[in-house]
Amino acid sequence: MRLLVNGRQHTVEHADEPLVWVLRDELGLIGTRYGCGIGACGCCTVLLAGEPVRSCQLTAAEVGDRPVVTLEGLAERGADGTVTLHPVQQAFVENPLQCGWCLPGHVLTAVALLARDPDPDEAAIAEAARPNLCRCGGYNTIKAAVARAAELAREP
Ligand code: FES
Ligand code: FES
Repeated sequence: MRLLVNGRQHTVEHADEPLVWVLRDELGLIGTRYGCGIGACGCCTVLLAGEPVRSCQLTAAEVGDRPVVTLEGLAERGADGTVTLHPVQQAFVENPLQCGWCLPGHVLTAVALLARDPDPDEAAIAEAARPNLCRCGGYNTIKAAVARAAELAREP
């Protein structure tokens, strides 16, 4: 089947496998992490038609023709090869986490939050981040990073 990931069409063989494994094993997009496998931790989060979803909980076939965005799809690459990080990525660089296993899920969840609310207050940031677990307990850092990402995204 065809899968639209990070703006590119891919042919994938294992349409009945969970999306997380198709992304990681077939497409080599290992920025999508695997944690619990039961939809509880959020570290496998990707954007599906702009909304955060847990890629361990749906198959590639269930994605159909809807666009998928993974961590690898956020940065922009200029014609000269220059890479510009997405504001959310830049904010997490400035606010580093401990092991980082939860990071892609938090980054993509924050991208979706800022797309619908460019100026979220503390409660909105906490509410958006709440479903994604961080075993290292980096919740204050995550909230600071998302607040910083909102600042960066508003800069001209
Ligand atoms: S690995 Fe998908 S929610 Fe935990
Ligand atoms: S930084 Fe280790 S799980 Fe979040």
